[in-house]
Amino acid sequence: MSSITAAVLGLVIASIGITPVQGGSTPLVRSYEGSSFFDRWDYFGSYDNTTNGDAIFANKSVADGTPELTYVTSSNTAIIKVDNTSTVAYNYKRNTIKITSQDSYDVGSVWVLDAVHLPYGCSVWPAFWSYGKGATWPQQGEIDTIEGVNLGWSNQMALHTEDGCAITTSASTYSGTVNDTSCYYEDNDNSGCAITDTNYKSYGSDFASNGGGVFVTSLSNEGISIWFFTRSEIPSSISGANSSIDTSSLGTPSAFYSNEGCEISKFFGAQSLVFDITLCGDWAGQSSILASTGCSALTGTNTCYSTYVLDASNYDTAYFEINSLKVYSNTSSSSSSNSTSSADVRSGTPMSRGTGGWGLFMITIFLGLLGMSFTL
Ligand SMILES: *[C@@H]1O[C@H](CO)[C@@H](O)[C@H](O)[C@H]1NC(C)=O
Ligand SMILES: *[C@@H]1O[C@H](CO)[C@@H](O)[C@H](O)[C@H]1NC(C)=O
Ligand SMILES: *[C@@H]1O[C@H](CO)[C@@H](O)[C@H](O)[C@H]1NC(C)=O
Ligand SMILES: *[C@@H]1O[C@H](CO)[C@@H](O)[C@H](O)[C@H]1NC(C)=O
Ligand SMILES: *[C@@H]1O[C@H](CO)[C@@H](O)[C@H](O)[C@H]1NC(C)=O
Ligand SMILES: *[C@@H]1O[C@H](CO)[C@@H](O)[C@H](O)[C@H]1NC(C)=O
Ligand SMILES: *[C@@H]1O[C@H](CO)[C@@H](O)[C@H](O)[C@H]1NC(C)=O
Repeated sequence: MSSITAAVLGLVIASIGITPVQGGSTPLVRSYEGSSFFDRWDYFGSYDNTTNGDAIFANKSVADGTPELTYVTSSNTAIIKVDNTSTVAYNYKRNTIKITSQDSYDVGSVWVLDAVHLPYGCSVWPAFWSYGKGATWPQQGEIDTIEGVNLGWSNQMALHTEDGCAITTSASTYSGTVNDTSCYYEDNDNSGCAITDTNYKSYGSDFASNGGGVFVTSLSNEGISIWFFTRSEIPSSISGANSSIDTSSLGTPSAFYSNEGCEISKFFGAQSLVFDITLCGDWAGQSSILASTGCSALTGTNTCYSTYVLDASNYDTAYFEINSLKVYSNTSSSSSSNSTSSADVRSGTPMSRGTGGWGLFMITIFLGLLGMSFTL
């Protein structure tokens, strides 16, 4: 072989070598939609004990009762909602929903949520997220695909992990705005490595008035990617992904967490999918956050709870309306037990100022006791 041929061959091989090895086809393993949408979920059935929300996450019998909080409409969409009709007596929390998939999906999976409406409104804090049911949260990682508060402008995505996972790739690998680079749950008040979508149509009233859209979450060995497409811009590779999906042509994702900065196989295990809507709590309920996300700051001695939760009419837009949730996976899905795991912990994400507030409270008590012991 001449040296020129060898050089050309070398170049060809080199150029093949640098072709990004991304995408490829991933087969459909489950579609949650229509009348079977709610078949394979566990209902939390207790109050919000992870984000301090003024919410009771109803059990299945309450959710199926009056008012119905999870149901399928005549147009085959699935509704997950806050109780917006019951009068709540002072000191009682309002019924809402947190459901966790009985199946979990390992590295090598993509899930696509097609929704026409996401919950929003003052004091409303919804999320569509996933976590690994490891022994201790967040040993197997948490991926927040959708999170927003109040009348906030756009969707915020995040990961929560053990120490050693961070955003390290250049800003050209994602289109969103980084809030924090460290995904370690003990950093940045447990707000994770959040990235905010620059597209206002990704949340709230703009999401709904544009017919909703799709969120694609890919958990692969190359990294974790989240894409958002408003209804009119959904690519055919998503709308036509009837038996498999190929994400390679979707373009720059809103959020990307590369395996370079976060060893996926180390920080992430099989993910259980979760929808929840809490009320007030560590993020949505702070006066300054209410004020910066389109609602009024709290006045006088009023709390988020006393201002909003007692009045059912504040929750008319507090619902998910879902066309489908499709899961594609290279690994067979593991169907876990359908009892609520004791590891079913969710971080006070993001902006878990509650932790700081609690610390301050303890210090105040401690100083108070100290003061007492001095005066004694
Ligand atoms: C599934 O496997 C195919 C073939 O190896 C690969 O191209 C694709 O990226 C994998 N999917 C995910 C989500 O990792
Ligand atoms: C569901 O929750 C309601 C309200 O707390 C309670 O009365 C009922 O016993 C629960 N049902 C089951 C099956 O746990
Ligand atoms: C994250 O960054 C966005 C865009 O800069 C900002 O609007 C938002 O308030 C930030 N979120 C938090 C929780 O600080
Ligand atoms: C996918 O399914 C939809 C609805 O059943 C159908 O309209 C469409 O043609 C299918 N697309 C492909 C690529 O098979
Ligand atoms: C409650 O919310 C639903 C949407 O989930 C809406 O159709 C209804 O008008 C709202 N208000 C009442 C009083 O039901
Ligand atoms: C829970 O799982 C058991 C067996 O694994 C099944 O018989 C039962 O129907 C499931 N319950 C629900 C509510 O899905
Ligand atoms: C929250 O409540 C659930 C259900 O009662 C329980 O299994 C879980 O351990 C609690 N989590 C925390 C952090 O207290």
